[in-house]
Amino acid sequence: MSEGYTAPDGGPITTTGAGAPAPSDEQSLSVGRDGPLLLHDVYLVEKMAHFNRERVPERVVHAKGAGAYGTFRVTQDVSEYTCADVFQPGRETPVLARFSTVAGEQGSPDTWRDPRGFALKFYTRQGNYDMVGNNTPVFFMRDPQKFQDFIRSQKRDPRTGLRDNTMQWDYWSLSPESAHQVTWLMGDRGVPRSYRNMDGFSSHTYMWVNAAGRKVWVKYHFLTDQGNEFLPQEEADRMAGADADLHRRDLYGAIARRDYPSWTLKVQIMPFEDAADYRFNPFDLTKVWPHGDYPLIEVGRMVLDRVPEDYFIHVEQAAFEPSNLVPGIGPSPDKMLLARLFSYADTHRYRIGVNYNELPPNRPEVPVRAYQKDGRMRSTPPNTGAVYHPNSFGGPDAVRQEGPEESSWPVEAAELVREAYTRHRDDDDFVQPRALIRDVMDDAARDRLVSNVSGHIAQVHDDGVLGRAVDYWSNIDPEIGRRVAARVKGNHTA
Ligand code: HEM
Repeated sequence: MSEGYTAPDGGPITTTGAGAPAPSDEQSLSVGRDGPLLLHDVYLVEKMAHFNRERVPERVVHAKGAGAYGTFRVTQDVSEYTCADVFQPGRETPVLARFSTVAGEQGSPDTWRDPRGFALKFYTRQGNYDMVGNNTPVFFMRDPQKFQDFIRSQKRDPRTGLRDNTMQWDYWSLSPESAHQVTWLMGDRGVPRSYRNMDGFSSHTYMWVNAAGRKVWVKYHFLTDQGNEFLPQEEADRMAGADADLHRRDLYGAIARRDYPSWTLKVQIMPFEDAADYRFNPFDLTKVWPHGDYPLIEVGRMVLDRVPEDYFIHVEQAAFEPSNLVPGIGPSPDKMLLARLFSYADTHRYRIGVNYNELPPNRPEVPVRAYQKDGRMRSTPPNTGAVYHPNSFGGPDAVRQEGPEESSWPVEAAELVREAYTRHRDDDDFVQPRALIRDVMDDAARDRLVSNVSGHIAQVHDDGVLGRAVDYWSNIDPEIGRRVAARVKGNHTA
């Protein structure tokens, strides 16, 4: 390839997108010095037209974030639980991580109270494996039918373009299964000090399968090696104005000064047979598994050490999808997870195009031999020898994998229904958030919880919703409910 045009002084010169020398960086072509402009100033037209098309739609949720590359290194032997290559002893696998807030838009402040996304893409020898989790181990609901409505209650009211605490508490107080996640959100974890100072969780239960085909259920915990730290509400509010990009700046700053952030991956393993009559439904996304029942087992460590060279290419166009699973790792009967297996690839096709897997952050490090062809922005020919199957020209054949591929579970023959999960004896929406408040938080954390909740509820402009919001806290913990009620009453009579 030629070196391209050079200026008389040897420096680089500007070109058009097609590589020809550009006529000027500063002056448009006009009829005389003061005359009208001309349509055949194709360079001006190219600049304007490209600019007009610079944006792709932002993610419908998790629009604001930051991403970095690094490595995941296995430190312990968990091969008795999974044959996935990425978790074999000593294996090192490149990763891309993206952290995000959920409800805000691309320019929204990093320090708004919100769960944080914790999305990982492992470029494994078996193809890409994505773990798309949050910094909380639970979620607001257990049926995906409710996700879209929930998100609408948290985003802007279409009539006013404003976010609205009345909508938020209206939804939460009508959905008691949200209580556990809302307790996390209103507690210290709702505003981490930085992306480096937070844990990441799969939240969902997945299936692991070992080389002999033995299955277990698994939950992932990426525990921050920097320590969990939070921002008090007043500091979060101040930083929202002083530096809306605080967390992105912090992540990139730490990597630039070689203070590489890391997380230790630990997992909880539940024997396959335990699930059926465990005291509560282990696939219910609003529940954690007590560590006393299923202790943490170390797997390895993730270190982030490289800021992508271009934010748009590598972070904005990164396409994480829980459906990117590899042999040895499968889904579970968690209905939320099963719905997510459809949703993400679908949104990528809409947002960045049907050939999104060819973009640099999404391209697997193994050869792709798919029979898919063509479509907008296609740039790699199918690596198959023929574009249909079966063929007589040496094209690839899908080979049924032994064991791991069949990450299935038995289902009783049944009618098609629209019903909640079969109940387990201790299913309850309030027991775990109550335990979080009473057993995990200390007095100071409980004080901050009351203050955060009361401050948030103070913006509710509907007496019915306000009353239900107070009842919601009384159901979680009567003492917290009483304190919130007193604060809210104080605010309203003040
Ligand atoms: C992003 C849907 C539940 C974590 C997204 C996106 C969609 C979506 C459409 C935008 C993706 C993109 O444009 O790249 C859903 C649906 C859910 C659900 C339908 C439930 C039925 C969850 C849960 C978690 C989660 C339970 C965490 C455990 C994330 C993360 C991102 C994301 C981290 C951002 C990924 C990135 O950094 O690009 N979700 N979501 N979501 N979701 Fe979900």
